Amino acid sequence: STTTTNPATNPATNPATNTSTPAAEPFRRRPFVGGNWKMNLLAAEVVALAQSIAAPGGGDGGAGGVDVVVFPPFPYLATVRPVLKPGVQLGGQDCSAEKQGAFTGQVGAAMLRDVGCASVLIGHSERRHGLGETDALLSRKIGQALDAGLVPVLCVGETLAERESGRAHEVIDSQLRGSLAGHAESALATLVVAYEPVWAIGTGRTATPDDAAEAHRTVRRTLKELYSARFSEQVRVIYGGSVNARNAAELLAREEIDGGLVGGASLVASDFAAIIAAASRRS
Ligand code: 13P
Repeated sequence: STTTTNPATNPATNPATNTSTPAAEPFRRRPFVGGNWKMNLLAAEVVALAQSIAAPGGGDGGAGGVDVVVFPPFPYLATVRPVLKPGVQLGGQDCSAEKQGAFTGQVGAAMLRDVGCASVLIGHSERRHGLGETDALLSRKIGQALDAGLVPVLCVGETLAERESGRAHEVIDSQLRGSLAGHAESALATLVVAYEPVWAIGTGRTATPDDAAEAHRTVRRTLKELYSARFSEQVRVIYGGSVNARNAAELLAREEIDGGLVGGASLVASDFAAIIAAASRRS
């Protein structure tokens, strides 16, 4: 089953090891669309939603292909896995910074991998700001994700106050440096960065394509300084924050924006399908 294929080691889904370049591809990086279901839905709704989602190109890495990943709540990962269509991947919303042991309530990266996850969200703003997760902690979570063979989807983004005081880019830069501290370029080949400005999450106030594109350039500038130009050009940088069926096309038409991390609209099958279709037009 494609849901058990690890994109970190699968050349078809890992741009770092995929040496075949489709001739008609306007953008170099494979689009990535994540549906972050957060703490929503119960089993019956989870199954209906999961069954409705399709990955263009069946997730096989061909033209028109999009990495489509759903991030259900932990209790439903094993429920969702068998009902996903070919190519739709499973992801965890978080993982522990510890490998295993006496950590009540936490979920280990190896457990996520074991239950069929290909990726994991690290440092979502609802955890940074709601639960006080620090960059130092997130760096350890990235280490656990990488050790388990999961694609880390590292979330960064400024608050409204930080943006209004002109510090958005400084915040993005410092979150990246802190969260990636201790990790070598060679270990991070599968990294995805999600730029999610806190003021845009769940507010209906989407970043303009210009603002999002500018923030994504900041992400790449920092990655270039930390690692290399080549690395900064191959990492996927996706946008999250009130992405919906109406604004997705405009955002995803920008060269800098490799995909989306979608909350509310990912709970509505037709809206999520429209966003995936917009991403598919990039490839
Ligand atoms: P919304 O799409 O509901 O704004 O949520 C975005 C988000 O936080 C995805 O991780």
